[in-house]
Amino acid sequence: MLMSGKADAKKEETAKSPSSYEIEESVLSIIDSHSEEKSPLLPILQDVQKAFGFISPQAMLEMSETLDIPLSQVYSAVTFYNEFRTKKRGKHLFRVCIGTACCIKKADAVILELEKELGIQCGQTDGKGLFTLETVNCFGACGLGPIVEVDGRIFSLVEPKKAKALAEEVKKKEGLQK
Ligand code: FES
Repeated sequence: MLMSGKADAKKEETAKSPSSYEIEESVLSIIDSHSEEKSPLLPILQDVQKAFGFISPQAMLEMSETLDIPLSQVYSAVTFYNEFRTKKRGKHLFRVCIGTACCIKKADAVILELEKELGIQCGQTDGKGLFTLETVNCFGACGLGPIVEVDGRIFSLVEPKKAKALAEEVKKKEGLQK
């Protein structure tokens, strides 16, 4: 059952892999755009993630050197806030709720099915960068669990059979399924 559309996250998820030069140029430009702010680190991190879909070690180093703050401080901020990622996601993002209500309704079986269908473990991205499988603590629709999000689309009452169909649909789009 499709509950609602959320395509806005899509652009971020499909950001291309940046080169070293692109990272340096973009990070410096982003830092420059926040030069008037007293505490620019968080807005800079948000802009860097928006630009690349994740925050790479090189981006963190550029921030540390240019802002003249310890690399450990940058890294702490990146790992403290859930909104930041240090790895690039795949083209298609599957997220399964593991909140209490969804777990009671066997979200674990849904995760197992998706792991099998996508050929990756939860928390991983496949080698071709096509699929990422993650968990979420709660989507706020606890009475309708298990909840699964696929590329920004939210599905409720998802059983393993439905999870398999969702994975097959995405694989078909990628020419991996008949
Ligand atoms: S526990 Fe799954 S949506 Fe809240």
